[in-house]
Amino acid sequence: MNDMKNDLYLRTLRGEKVERTPIWVMRQAGRYLPEYRAVRKQAGDFLTLCKTPELACEVTMQPIDRFGLDAAILFSDILTIPDAMGLELVLEEGVGPVFNKPVRSEADINKLTVPDAEDDLGYVMDAVRVIRKELDGRVPLIGFTGSPWTLASYMVEGSGSKEFRRIKGLMFESPQAAHTLLQVVTDSVITYLKAQVAAGAQSLMVFDTWGGMLSTANYQTFSLSYMQQIVSAIKSDAATKDIPIVLFTKGGGQWLEMMADTGCDGLGLDWTVDITNAKARVGDRVVLQGNMDPVVMNTGTTQVQDNAMQVLEGYGQHQAGDKGHIFNLGHGIQPFAQPDNMKALVDTVQGQSSKFHA
Ligand code: CP3
Repeated sequence: MNDMKNDLYLRTLRGEKVERTPIWVMRQAGRYLPEYRAVRKQAGDFLTLCKTPELACEVTMQPIDRFGLDAAILFSDILTIPDAMGLELVLEEGVGPVFNKPVRSEADINKLTVPDAEDDLGYVMDAVRVIRKELDGRVPLIGFTGSPWTLASYMVEGSGSKEFRRIKGLMFESPQAAHTLLQVVTDSVITYLKAQVAAGAQSLMVFDTWGGMLSTANYQTFSLSYMQQIVSAIKSDAATKDIPIVLFTKGGGQWLEMMADTGCDGLGLDWTVDITNAKARVGDRVVLQGNMDPVVMNTGTTQVQDNAMQVLEGYGQHQAGDKGHIFNLGHGIQPFAQPDNMKALVDTVQGQSSKFHA
């Protein structure tokens, strides 16, 4: 089992004492890299790239090869599940993801069924298998999903949104229908994550990109309770119970205690959260992942170095009882980021963090 050449990321997630802080970056494979844009052009479009395991593997490896990050993340998207449910995902240039057949009525909701992870999403599992083989133990592979609330938001809105008029309308006017939708998505997510682990994913992350749009009470009822089901399902199955799972609610900084109560292993922090304060609140219960402002990556090398040090200093000395810290940005790296800044960031974290682990 333990044939990893660099298993720092997994050891950190298990709460072990480590020699330095590991780093990976949300959206580390993506449009800021010229070699990504070249492969994406070769594939023709984003979904073909996701659905061709050899190409998905190639772009997964690009940031590992170029920057020496401490973990790889499966190249895919959170919207694969709704696509497999028949909503027909298209990625429109300059618009973002759009569904040809969004969920617009209770009848639409009642027609949804849980996709089969191997029959309907086998390309994702194939990508996991190909990537694990290619990684050959260099670094661990992170599998992922969107949270049920975030997936349901895209499914009902039909695209990205600022106001979330439709999904919130459903939640306020027909809460039972919203719960039916969230439950079928949750069941799909659990099946999907278990299949990723069976295929070779070594840790799991849940992206709750839009949970932060909710009131506290509605966050608990419509987002967190479904993430709780996911954590419980992973932790109660012998095949997945040892796989660390990290929850990330963007805008969820005020809810860290209740997120830690789910029994997850780690929490992603967006950049608005004071990491010193987060550590005082939940740092003895969960590993913290984050949280430099991603926009720093679009500026100069000095700014990257300074801001990275601020995050390391913010978490501070690793002492007995602290679960640990994984360096990341507070949200995905943007297409405008400078590739050289990624190098500076990785060098800073890998070169400077050992002094916080004395
Ligand atoms: O490197 C990695 O992190 C792995 C791959 C990955 C992608 N999407 C690739 C991608 C991951 C983990 C995701 C997650 C994802 N997808 C989230 C949750 C994380 C977050 O950013 O909050 C969300 C909300 C999506 C939905 C989505 N997919 C959007 C909004 C877009 C369009 C614009 C954007 O943000 O990049 C996508 C497409 C997408 N997914 C691209 C990539 C590299 C861009 C595709 C391209 O234009 O080539």
